[in-house]
Amino acid sequence: MSRPDTPDDSDVTPTEDAIRAALRNVMDPELGADIVELGMVTAVRIDGSSVEVEVALTIAGCPLRAQIQRDVDTHVGSLPGVGQVTVTTGVMDAAQKQAVMARARLLAREDPPVTSVPDTARVIAIASGKGGVGKSSVTVNLAVALARRGLTVGVLDADIWGFSVPRLLGMQGDVEAREKKMVPLERAIGPGMLRVLSMGFLADEDQAIMWRGLILNRAVQQFLEDVHWGDLDFLLIDMPPGTGDIQMGLARMMPRTEVLVVTTPPLAAQKVAARTADMARKGYLRVTGVIENMSDFTCEHGTSYALFGSGGGARLAADVGVPLLGSVPLHPSVAAGGDAGTPVALDDNQPLAGEFARIAAALVASPPAVVSMDGCSARLLERVEAAVAAGDLA
Ligand SMILES: Nc1ncnc2c1ncn2[C@@H]1O[C@H](COP(=O)(O)OP(=O)(O)O)[C@@H](O)[C@H]1O
Ligand SMILES: [Mg+2]
Repeated sequence: MSRPDTPDDSDVTPTEDAIRAALRNVMDPELGADIVELGMVTAVRIDGSSVEVEVALTIAGCPLRAQIQRDVDTHVGSLPGVGQVTVTTGVMDAAQKQAVMARARLLAREDPPVTSVPDTARVIAIASGKGGVGKSSVTVNLAVALARRGLTVGVLDADIWGFSVPRLLGMQGDVEAREKKMVPLERAIGPGMLRVLSMGFLADEDQAIMWRGLILNRAVQQFLEDVHWGDLDFLLIDMPPGTGDIQMGLARMMPRTEVLVVTTPPLAAQKVAARTADMARKGYLRVTGVIENMSDFTCEHGTSYALFGSGGGARLAADVGVPLLGSVPLHPSVAAGGDAGTPVALDDNQPLAGEFARIAAALVASPPAVVSMDGCSARLLERVEAAVAAGDLA
């Protein structure tokens, strides 16, 4: 029995259960779950028909505060027997906040939104805090090396403005739409296949501008929902520099995304890369490994030159507590292959093909570990932060 016979509900006393049930309709849009499930409702007080709900917010100046208050008022206020609703807000302490974030991440993992990327695909974002370290070159060569193992590899060029994947892979053409979804361009590589999507394939200026408008608003969703990716073994995402929004979007859409951090050898570059690792952590994405690019240059006489210093990749990997998946030397063939649209990883006669093949093998062999807040992932962030604070990475 939920309501008494009389239409006048003033004699009904609301129960705490009913109020908590109503509060489950109040979502924290940032965290993507309701405030009861997230543990943000810290008290419910009932005094006759007056109800007071206490909500703890993650930060004092939470921009969602007014909206949450309004939603609580609407949902609780419409319950039978409820007259006055008072919503008070408090701020969580660090421990509460950590618990809520952990809960949000867990919920996101249990119930991620539907994307058109198959559940079985490993999703790997190739990131670094700054441009020019070779993310795009590493992305396409790694994609090629994986495809040569007979895998189907999606390549998503998430660098909307500075796209370079089409050139690096020597691919051009227009993305077609089928059933209102974009169809990636394909390139067969040995026994495998690349499925590639980039702003560069939206050649028609009007179309490009339209997509840009859409994409800027919800970049990641667009690329993950509205694309016929088909069956993929891997999806490699070439991230733009300065990736805060896109990483957060990825974390929300595909919490299983793993981050590969690309760094150059000098220690200063690590600081930027460490910031990326840190950002991945805050978005609750797992850092899978580090790739050092532009390592020692070996001239034709066999002498090695550490043009940009050395040891940065190993150092960062050790500090973050993840494997160094490989070091790619500085070699003109990488740039030449990129200019020609024939990545060095295509051809075993190229000096660095073996390097990318080894990295691909290491990636395939590294199991996609389960992320858990009380496990290593949470502490990794602390380690990175501590290392940065101590100036180790400066
Ligand atoms: N290992 C390497 N050896 C030589 N040149 C490289 C190497 N890796 C990248 N490059 C060159 O460095 C430039 C930047 O690389 P790119 O992959 O576009 O970096 P990002 O995507 O991080 O901005 C390009 O001209 C590329 O050809
Ligand atoms: Mg790039």
